Amino acid sequence: MLGPPGAGKGTQAARLAERLGVPRIATGDMLRMEVNSSTDLGKRAERYMRRGVLVPDEIIIEMVKRRVSQEDCQGGFILDGFPRNIRQAEALEDLGTVDIVLYLEVEEGEVVERLSGRRSCSNCQAVYHVRFSPPMMGGKCDRCGGDLYQREDDREKVVRQRFQTYRESTQPLVDYYETKSVLEKVSGDGTIEQISQNLLKVLQSRGLL
Ligand code: AP5
Repeated sequence: MLGPPGAGKGTQAARLAERLGVPRIATGDMLRMEVNSSTDLGKRAERYMRRGVLVPDEIIIEMVKRRVSQEDCQGGFILDGFPRNIRQAEALEDLGTVDIVLYLEVEEGEVVERLSGRRSCSNCQAVYHVRFSPPMMGGKCDRCGGDLYQREDDREKVVRQRFQTYRESTQPLVDYYETKSVLEKVSGDGTIEQISQNLLKVLQSRGLL
């Protein structure tokens, strides 16, 4: 899944993963778990994440390599938040074939509203929105009952930096994957359900469903 911060990559990747019966590998979630557990990796990563810049490639590539070598990934997986630059994309080529890159296109103004209302589960990482996808019981996760919190990097100043990082480092992947004929652009505007349906149609048209 490719797209700017708040495009809905995590929301849609979670739905697709469930539908396809494959794991979703979200580097942002993995890093936040390391930060919460105060591991050495987490302490290193936090310095970059709280500023809205990329965590160094060697850390990320190693983390993804370890994850995709696990048993549950052998039948395929959905990557959410990786690769984030050309170097990571090249590293991914050593790990397997990229069947499809789903690029969620959203206007920056829309995304700022999404990020400011986002709430995440501190236990299972499920994602909600105070207006667009509210939990049934305020402040608690529908799935596991965990406490919901607002991500530190969803503060306005950090969001601006995340966008800049996206434009500089990640946006070039659109051309990179277009050249390889695996890129599919899907509008990220509309309801969560509509976008899911559009993504499924694209997968079907490519014979992946
Ligand atoms: P990461 O966690 O990957 O953040 P991101 O890419 O900025 O993406 P987000 O999680 O903010 O957004 P999303 O597109 O998943 O949207 P979501 O579905 O939540 O990375 C965080 C940090 O970790 C990075 O800044 C970096 O430091 C580091 N990092 C991670 N990966 C790295 C890598 N590979 N290399 C180096 N560093 C890395 O939706 C957002 C909100 O909108 C939610 O509230 C949701 O409910 C709502 N919403 C979703 N869809 C809709 C819709 N259609 N209509 C209305 N609301 C919607």
